[in-house]
Amino acid sequence: MAISQLQIHNIRNLRQVSLHQFSNINIFFGANGSGKTSILEAIHLLGMARSFRSGNTRTLVTHGETQCTVYGVSTTDSKPGGIPLAIQRSLNGDVLIKVGGQVVRTTAELVEYLPVQLLDATSFELLSGPPGARRQFLNWGVFHVEQRFFPVWQRFQRCIKQRNKVLRHGKLGDAELAVWTRELALAGEEIHQYRLMYFEALAPLFREIMRGLAPSLAGLELRYRRGWDKSLDYNEALRASSQVDREQGYTHAGPQRADIKVSIDGFSAADTLSRGQQKLVVCALKLAQGQLMTEHQRRSCTYLVDDLPSELDALHCRLVCDVLAEMGSQVFITCVARADLANMWPEGAKTQVFHVEHGQISKVAG
Ligand SMILES: Nc1ncnc2c1ncn2[C@@H]1O[C@H](COP(=O)(O)OP(=O)(O)O)[C@@H](O)[C@H]1O
Ligand SMILES: [Mg+2]
Repeated sequence: MAISQLQIHNIRNLRQVSLHQFSNINIFFGANGSGKTSILEAIHLLGMARSFRSGNTRTLVTHGETQCTVYGVSTTDSKPGGIPLAIQRSLNGDVLIKVGGQVVRTTAELVEYLPVQLLDATSFELLSGPPGARRQFLNWGVFHVEQRFFPVWQRFQRCIKQRNKVLRHGKLGDAELAVWTRELALAGEEIHQYRLMYFEALAPLFREIMRGLAPSLAGLELRYRRGWDKSLDYNEALRASSQVDREQGYTHAGPQRADIKVSIDGFSAADTLSRGQQKLVVCALKLAQGQLMTEHQRRSCTYLVDDLPSELDALHCRLVCDVLAEMGSQVFITCVARADLANMWPEGAKTQVFHVEHGQISKVAG
């Protein structure tokens, strides 16, 4: 899977950008404020219909304009001609998503055409931040390898909302509560099974990548937590917590509480590792996801890597670049000076360099 064309209109300082002839590794260099992160933002928008920097369209759209558009063509081995994708976001809140020229209603219908992975300055929060980010990470992976996941996920969301509503309204709704509890138990158990299967495939890939990136962190361990007592099935867990659920008016146990615990020699990795080391762990997690996706689906994801050299020393930068190049995924990566990333790639890697200057992008020869 690769982007073969990209047109950006009114995203931050990128008023009108048209790019094609991408390579596997696409390096964007330029001074601070030139528009590098905005390019990654535009590609993220193309794949996910939203920015990674801000949920607020007002900051994304070029000041003084009312809407931004990104258009791109995503090619795959089976569709070498590519599938055109277009996203438009307006200040009034409207979002228009087109896949293959047809309007689609939901982001879920878009994301399979251009799965994107982001590695940027905020990525280490995957390790140190609240569990929600790690659940999202897990869901992203499961979504892309297991088609049955998304409908169950939707069903689960519906059930838990209804169940919590009944819980808030007290004793009167006992029969209704039983119905939603039964439905919730089924959906929750299934979500857990998909996540567990995914996690068990991911963990060894992660370990392998980590061994290459930082052999000194061999004591690193990943553990998946399902969100309830593992000696119980979900139905039993719901029954066990029904008293507290009633008292507090919401569902305590379940996949909505799942997490991935990362530890080193028995201690929390987030509390122990340096920021640089945490960054490496997050890189390894996201690289492992990409590898797993390629193995399972024979599809690859697109990596958006912002300012790697400012986060990692040269040696580790090179090691991450090695894994990226080896995977064969398309990469869009930024740096300040051309030299920062020019010599990071293994021999034979297909690279293309672009210079970014005041929102204008030019291809650099050689
Ligand atoms: N909504 C906006 N409209 C116009 N310009 C913006 C907007 N938001 C940010 N900018 C400007 O866009 C430029 C590009 O930002 P960014 O892509 O983060 O730069 P880089 O990553 O190259 O340092 C910055 O100079 C910033 O001030
Ligand atoms: Mg930037």
